[in-house]
Amino acid sequence: MSEASSGLNAIAALERNADLMTGRVGLIGLPVPHLPAGLETADAPTLVVTEHAGLADALAGSDRCRVSFGYDLPDELAQPLDTLVLFVPKARQTLDMQLAMARALLVDGGRLVLVGEKREGIAGAARQLQALAPDAHKVDSARHCQVWVASVTGVAGTFDPLAWLQWHELEAADTRLVVANMPGIFSDGHLDEGTARLLENLAEMPVAGPVLDFACGSGVIGAWLQARHPGLGPVDAVDVQAQAVICARQTYQRNGARGEIIASDGLPADLGRYRTIVTNPPFHSGVRTDTSMTERFLRDARRHLLPGGEMRLVANRFLPYQPLLEQCVGPCQTLFEDRRFAVYQARVSS
Ligand SMILES: C[S@@+](CC[C@H](N)C(=O)[O-])C[C@H]1O[C@@H](n2cnc3c(N)ncnc32)[C@H](O)[C@@H]1O
Repeated sequence: MSEASSGLNAIAALERNADLMTGRVGLIGLPVPHLPAGLETADAPTLVVTEHAGLADALAGSDRCRVSFGYDLPDELAQPLDTLVLFVPKARQTLDMQLAMARALLVDGGRLVLVGEKREGIAGAARQLQALAPDAHKVDSARHCQVWVASVTGVAGTFDPLAWLQWHELEAADTRLVVANMPGIFSDGHLDEGTARLLENLAEMPVAGPVLDFACGSGVIGAWLQARHPGLGPVDAVDVQAQAVICARQTYQRNGARGEIIASDGLPADLGRYRTIVTNPPFHSGVRTDTSMTERFLRDARRHLLPGGEMRLVANRFLPYQPLLEQCVGPCQTLFEDRRFAVYQARVSS
């Protein structure tokens, strides 16, 4: 089953229970850019809070909703809600953060609806909900999903996503950094093994600027590159996730790194051109392996590389990127390989 169809299942399960969505309604974590039917009679446009830049862009023009990219709501959107629907996120800590946000957004006694698939962990999520609202109970099971409802009492005041920021130290190839992390961010609190192999390779074989870090997560690669090679210049960075954008900006600031951190689903069309693109690209979408996003990125990358420029990419060895790099960027060689990871270099002809 694809992630899109799994997202549509959760929406269909919610639509069967549309009578729960009354008054001013908010949706957190909508899995696909498709507003559930049944919101038409709501008192005000639906608030959609999403950490996905592509989904935020897709719904930005809709007059049926107001969209917040990320959990830092501007004042005009932070109005009290009567009903808040939470779609179960992948990470447990993200749900804790979203539940704290729900407490701040709901009116006293407001209705919280939790929906998600069994294989996404709705059972564990429901236990988290019960810890906040002991009256939480299941109202429906359909389309591999469950729907839970609770009333939330006690107003929590304001919600500040930066209160969920944490710091950790890491070292790669004798270079130390302090890195920000937040719930839901990739490799939360430690250096990913693939990233470590890429940084060791970048220490041995430095790259030339200007540099872009695609899929930057907490900003570790861009900040490390500048700490390791002070003459390199700014490293711009792109990520689709709101928490990644916040953390990358924080990591850059804390380590004195420079570069623009851009929120985007894939490479934005108006992005400039770089001598080097470095990346540890995504290969999961939800709970299954999905390389389609990276394949799209590789097809788009060439027009953002200068003549003679290079792509330096780390990936699990089993992922079929080498032929794609050859096809999309240019001649490709494997600079490093072990049992799990490979670091590839593909060059655009001069
Ligand atoms: C494997 S992680 C690498 C993170 C970071 N570079 C590191 O090495 O720790 C991949 C990152 O890709 C981001 N991502 C996923 N889909 C994306 C997309 N469509 N466009 C941009 N970034 C995306 C995720 O949010 C995640 O931060």
